[in-house]
Amino acid sequence: MPDELPVVGHALALHLDAVGALRRAREQCGPLFWVHLGFGARFLFCTGSGSFELMKDPRLVTDGARSTLEYLIGRSLLSLDGAAHRRIRGVLNPPFAPRGLSESVTGDLIRQVATDRAERLVQQDQAAIHEEMKEMALDLVLRIAGVGTQDLPEWRHQYSEAMLGLVPLPWDLPYSPRRRALRGVAWLNKQISALLERARAETKGNSLLHVLLQARDENGRALDEAELLDNIRTLFLAGHETTATTAAWAVLHLCLDPGLWQRMVDEACRGSGVPRSPAEAKQFPLAEAIFRESVRLYGPAWFINRRTTAVIEHAGHPIPANTTVAVTPSLWARDPDLYPEPDVFRPERWLGRPSPTPYEISQFGAGAHFCLGYHLAWLEVVAFLVALGRSAQKQAPGQRPRLFCPEALRPRFFPTPHPPTVARVSFRATAAIR
Ligand code: HEM
Repeated sequence: MPDELPVVGHALALHLDAVGALRRAREQCGPLFWVHLGFGARFLFCTGSGSFELMKDPRLVTDGARSTLEYLIGRSLLSLDGAAHRRIRGVLNPPFAPRGLSESVTGDLIRQVATDRAERLVQQDQAAIHEEMKEMALDLVLRIAGVGTQDLPEWRHQYSEAMLGLVPLPWDLPYSPRRRALRGVAWLNKQISALLERARAETKGNSLLHVLLQARDENGRALDEAELLDNIRTLFLAGHETTATTAAWAVLHLCLDPGLWQRMVDEACRGSGVPRSPAEAKQFPLAEAIFRESVRLYGPAWFINRRTTAVIEHAGHPIPANTTVAVTPSLWARDPDLYPEPDVFRPERWLGRPSPTPYEISQFGAGAHFCLGYHLAWLEVVAFLVALGRSAQKQAPGQRPRLFCPEALRPRFFPTPHPPTVARVSFRATAAIR
């Protein structure tokens, strides 16, 4: 990719407009090009036809492709492949499937967390929408893991310490980001172990931890303590910024389009209440369409990386074994053959049509590593939008939300994709300012 800077590589250009930079690179270099994400992290981007199929190719693995995350995700779903991955995935699938969500306490937690956050949001004069959504998404995964409401502030703090390890400064010195991150991970481990201990001592219960403790793989083996810790920490990471960005962009677009907002509120108020199961969420097709369009345009996985374990071919070129390659759901989601005017936010394109195909939900990955939390994320965002519509209507009927954003309303891409952090929304005032 052209225009590489010393040390930071293409990171700045990608941060400001990753999709634009990838499109330009594809035009100038063809479907295969090297991208330098900074500090020597170089990935071979594969954007030719057939790149979606690469996600299902067993010669491409996650093991060794995510070294910067290892301190946080350990040996979990996100870093295992083959039989080791299948074993853990088999244990984790049931509680995250539609039935598992409906039958466990998770559905109730989704309804409760979404409703509390919506009520809090409509009370504020100006709410920092991305921060609010991050807190909601993190609170939900923590609550699902058994954390009590009163303990959430300390867990949020320790989790943000643990995330400091993503700062690309590898030195473990006193007060360094690395040292603080390792301490954060140790704190999380200790507390998760205590939650597991408590769940083991309870004879009854249908929380996620109870289900995971009782689950057995096909050989009758339970997950051991290290597997439980690594995978529960991975759920925090995977289920947090991803949903937060999606929900934040959904709200921002509702602020920009009064007609869409009104239709969403009408739908939310017509339904029987905030959904707690995928079946109930189906009563809200417009809210679901807004979720899908938000993921399509702002999906957090703008690229997904893998390591090749053998020579593979893409776009007519051989790619050697041990190459870090990347595919681009952000470009698939802007395929003009599939989405007329692909850069326009238009939820209606998802209405009145059959369930999306695997390619259309490739923002959640594909193949063996397809997102474990797909149904959870969908239910969470739909529940939140319904709760928001109902709360806003109760507090100030007929009013449209206002948006305050002193800078251009476009995505930023590092460390993970997000809307401008300065964007604020208000559901209290009467007149629109944009
Ligand atoms: C809009 C929200 C979300 C998006 C766009 C999203 C996207 C993705 C993507 C692209 C992958 C595949 C990564 C790869 O192939 O390397 C993935 C995997 C994963 N996601 Fe999500 N995710 C979302 C929400 C969630 C939630 C709420 C959870 C759980 C609480 C979750 C848990 C996971 C896990 C555990 C994996 C690893 C699965 C495996 O490797 O077997 N995600 N997600």
